[in-house]
Amino acid sequence: MALLEVKNLSVTFKNDGIFSSEEVKAVKNVSFSLKKGEVLGIVGQSGSGKTTIGRAVLGLIPYEGKIDFKGNRISCMFQDPLASLHPYLSIRKQLLDIVPDEERIRNLFKKFNLDYEIIGKKKPSQLSGGQRQRVIIIRSLLNEPDLIIADEPISMLDVTLKMWVLKALRELKETYGLSMLFITHDLLTTKYVCDRIMVMKDGEVVEEGTLEEIFTSPKKGYTKELLEAIPKV
Ligand SMILES: Nc1ncnc2c1ncn2[C@@H]1O[C@H](COP(=O)(O)OP(=O)(O)O)[C@@H](O)[C@H]1O
Ligand SMILES: [Mg+2]
Repeated sequence: MALLEVKNLSVTFKNDGIFSSEEVKAVKNVSFSLKKGEVLGIVGQSGSGKTTIGRAVLGLIPYEGKIDFKGNRISCMFQDPLASLHPYLSIRKQLLDIVPDEERIRNLFKKFNLDYEIIGKKKPSQLSGGQRQRVIIIRSLLNEPDLIIADEPISMLDVTLKMWVLKALRELKETYGLSMLFITHDLLTTKYVCDRIMVMKDGEVVEEGTLEEIFTSPKKGYTKELLEAIPKV
């Protein structure tokens, strides 16, 4: 049974200008489903409609089509970590407010290579971008969500930290069976955490398949282009 079932999702934005108004079809007739414990990568260039899908699933914007979520809680990790933390409270205080279980918080900090004793005492503005982003990820895991929407959660991190965070997410997925929509413009990062991948272009699904299918036998030219754009090391 699917945890999340999205059928024929379409989102249209109206941009009202002074002399005219234009409609932007950000998402066109997109369908997919997600099983419990599964990670679906939503991949595409900037402007392809990925964030809009996430916002529709969260119920933040009007949409056409059907979104069926069979869980209780969705939590999200967004691109802008500073905006989503409380500016005046210490990290320790704001995390304990979510779950009064310091041991659990400490373990997650260890997993994401952060020193709880030092970082916990600080306020968001006193952290580096990479530290803040990891705190956001930890926070979104604390309330035991049924579904996580991760919208470019690691795009602002440098390469070494990216690998750390991807590794931690993969371990958490294996241990707790996280269900996640992993939104990214970077096909390479999906390789470490995703079970399936949906490739988007101009609001439409280009192709969907298992990680292996997409990486070893992509059917569509656009997917091949994305694969070829990955730097070879
Ligand atoms: N609130 C909005 N109002 C008008 N247009 C929007 C709005 N949000 C997104 N769009 C447009 O919808 C399209 C898809 O955007 P988005 O979902 O943010 O893409 P992505 O996350 O893949 O970069 C883009 O053309 C974008 O300009
Ligand atoms: Mg986006």
